[in-house]
Amino acid sequence: MRIDVLTLFPELFETPLRTSLLGKAVEAGRLTVGVTNIRDFARDRHRTVDDEPFGGGAGMVMTCEPILAAVESLRGTNSCAHVVMLSPRGRPLTQPVVRELAAHKDLVLVCGRYEGVDERVVGLLHADEVSVGDYVLSGGELPALTLIEAMSRMLPGVVGKAESVDTDSFADGVLGPPQYTRPAEVAGVRVPEVLLSGHHGAIARWRRKEALRLTKERRPDLLGACTEQDAELLREIEADAAGPGRGE
Ligand SMILES: C[S@@+](CC[C@H](N)C(=O)[O-])C[C@H]1O[C@@H](n2cnc3c(N)ncnc32)[C@H](O)[C@@H]1O
Repeated sequence: MRIDVLTLFPELFETPLRTSLLGKAVEAGRLTVGVTNIRDFARDRHRTVDDEPFGGGAGMVMTCEPILAAVESLRGTNSCAHVVMLSPRGRPLTQPVVRELAAHKDLVLVCGRYEGVDERVVGLLHADEVSVGDYVLSGGELPALTLIEAMSRMLPGVVGKAESVDTDSFADGVLGPPQYTRPAEVAGVRVPEVLLSGHHGAIARWRRKEALRLTKERRPDLLGACTEQDAELLREIEADAAGPGRGE
């Protein structure tokens, strides 16, 4: 997969693209990320990329021309067929959206700054506006990195065991189950005994039940139509809540 990022702060991408799984994905050539400085496409000697908003108001707005010229410069290495504009007004970034975007062979990500980007850029590039949440950051760089890292996990060979991705939160519409590691007891608190049993079937059932329990408690909005086995586990969860004790 190839991703080209357009930004006014290319340096923000240096360390994340060299670190951990993302760094390995880039090094192994599973993911190519090009970072282009929008300012390189400004036409005046001050390298101006912003201007005052028409109609007045606070702050500055990123102008169209440098962004459009930067996208043009990518043609040849990137089809520029799918341009994502990071924006708090975009569609929310969820795991299905990550999966959908990761299926593209190449993408262009545009990072805004200041009060945002001239609205015509979105229309002219048919940009897909994507938001990382209902809060406002100072720029699109961290949202772009969030999207890049989430997409990289979907690419074959990036996460060591594909199973880890399959059991991640949201992978199949529920939160992930709790995880424990050694030692089996810390400050008098033991890990659930079933995890020490070596009984793979019982462990898988416990994990699914705990994933459903957490989802029901914290994100009931995620629980849609469920399988017969999940329905049975949810009935058990309700019975557990009604009676004394919890879990196995
Ligand atoms: C200060 S924000 C502009 C906010 C804009 N005035 C508004 O109210 O929608 C500057 C840039 O940060 C990025 N940004 C801020 N919050 C974001 C979010 N939640 N998701 C994605 N991008 C965001 C966008 O690229 C945006 O153009």
